[in-house]
Amino acid sequence: MTPRFEPRRHPHWNALRCRCDRRLAWHWHPLRIADRAFDLALPSDPDQVLTTVCRQTSNRSSADTSDPFWAQVWPSTRGIDRFLADRDLTALPVLELGCGVGAGGLAAVARGARVTFTDGATDPLLLLRLTLARNAIDGCTIRRLRFGVDRIDRRFSLIIGSDVTYLRHCWPGLLDTLASHLAPGGEVLLSDPYRSLVTEFVERVATPRWRVESHHVALDDTAIRVLRLTAQTLGKGFSDRA
Ligand SMILES: C[S@@+](CC[C@H](N)C(=O)[O-])C[C@H]1O[C@@H](n2cnc3c(N)ncnc32)[C@H](O)[C@@H]1O
Repeated sequence: MTPRFEPRRHPHWNALRCRCDRRLAWHWHPLRIADRAFDLALPSDPDQVLTTVCRQTSNRSSADTSDPFWAQVWPSTRGIDRFLADRDLTALPVLELGCGVGAGGLAAVARGARVTFTDGATDPLLLLRLTLARNAIDGCTIRRLRFGVDRIDRRFSLIIGSDVTYLRHCWPGLLDTLASHLAPGGEVLLSDPYRSLVTEFVERVATPRWRVESHHVALDDTAIRVLRLTAQTLGKGFSDRA
């Protein structure tokens, strides 16, 4: 059962709400994940987010990591949720990449994991602070992490990413981030709704460095692919930027 939310437990609650209000219009969105009820802070107008980010980035280089697609919960999060269904992740540190509003990571939280939620964009991380507070989730952290740019000084035995493989130019940075954050013997789960580009990603990643399994997850209304990557050679100084 979700603990009752008490704003008084969060001394910075009002300041946080005000910061979010100044950035964008948002609302509480109820969502069931792993049979548990969560309230997620979501942008009220995802199209407005898309338009604003596109306007801001149109004059910047293609290496810029701003991304307009964080403002909704993507179906691939449900693929991660279903894939984790039988797992007990109690106290396991898990890294989520490109978390957006955090639904994929919450699937791990619901099974006991201590998730480090990360994204390249900062607005979803701000909303996620509201979400974690509202749902009385302790033991998780929120960090900005741009693929191939930022680094967290530790490794994780489980890394998850929901719908983060859809941009070809992000692949080298993503693979670099996976190699530098995956613990020996660990696994990576990347979900997507069978995008054709991701089939190319699979061919690219299936090298002697990575072993790749593709799992089909049938949901009521759609099908999701979950790629399970394990590293075959993760040495010191490993980089996927060959
Ligand atoms: C399609 S959205 C998926 C969001 C969320 N995982 C979900 O499934 O609902 C892709 C996410 O990846 C993030 N992203 C895109 N490029 C990135 C990069 N280069 N570094 C870090 N995050 C990135 C975006 O900000 C966005 O939140």
